[in-house]
Amino acid sequence: MIEIKKVAFEPMNEIHENETKILEKLIEKIEKKEPLEKIYEEFLNDVKNHFSFEEKLMDKYNFFAKIPHKMEHTRIINELEELKKELDNYELLKKYFYEHFLPWLDNHIATMDTVTGGFFNMVNAQI
Ligand SMILES: [Fe+2]
Ligand SMILES: [Fe+2]
Repeated sequence: MIEIKKVAFEPMNEIHENETKILEKLIEKIEKKEPLEKIYEEFLNDVKNHFSFEEKLMDKYNFFAKIPHKMEHTRIINELEELKKELDNYELLKKYFYEHFLPWLDNHIATMDTVTGGFFNMVNAQI
């Protein structure tokens, strides 16, 4: 079970929880060395939707730190797009997700998403 921190804006928590479930499925398939094309596509689309949800609201309410937050998202999307070339390299994927992506997600939610969610809560953001 991947545990993630809650932010002060409930729609973001729902998105994070759903993403965590897809990520758990993906990691399980990596562990079992199963074909990954389908689940990886599902995961990548979900990450893109997750990020664009936050980005649209940051634009709508002109969040003061939207630029660094968007840059972080873009950097991760680029990494995940690159990783599509390695879907049969289970060792590399395991290393990437355990040592890089999971700590990144945990840290991103604890820092940028927490500040952003607090801001959305403060301005009573409507989706
Ligand atoms: Fe997020
Ligand atoms: Fe984010």
